[in-house]
Amino acid sequence: MVTRADQVLLDAAIAVQNKAHAPFSNYPVGAAVRTVDGTIFVGVNVESASFSLTCCAERVALFTAVSAGHGQIDACAIVTAEAVPAAPCGACRQVLSEFGVDIRIVLGNAKGDVRIAALNDLLPESFTAAQVLTRSN
Ligand code: THU
Repeated sequence: MVTRADQVLLDAAIAVQNKAHAPFSNYPVGAAVRTVDGTIFVGVNVESASFSLTCCAERVALFTAVSAGHGQIDACAIVTAEAVPAAPCGACRQVLSEFGVDIRIVLGNAKGDVRIAALNDLLPESFTAAQVLTRSN
């Protein structure tokens, strides 16, 4: 079920999508994360002429939240121009998982389609900080 809070987060992602720097892919993405205290941070994909340096919108939003001192994320909304709302790439799933045990993922597109997913379902058996922190050597 799409809640009012989901729609607010998605609207923030939609509002920022046109700021994407995507001259190479022409695939603008807007993202918004909501922290546990309800604060929203947005981000867009930022591409580079040196292609591999591109950063996805989700990570830009997340890193902005973390830079502002927010390390616990409740939800992440993502909007693309696709006919079917697109799920985040694997790298963003992994990075998001560092900041929330089961982040609610709200996927949307320009047509107004919305799909809700749980990060745990998109990234089962993720590699976690606990694995690194408990190593024995
Ligand atoms: N992109 C994102 O911003 N988020 C994703 O989850 C997948 C892909 C961006 C990266 C690149 O700028 C463009 O979309 C095409 O891959």
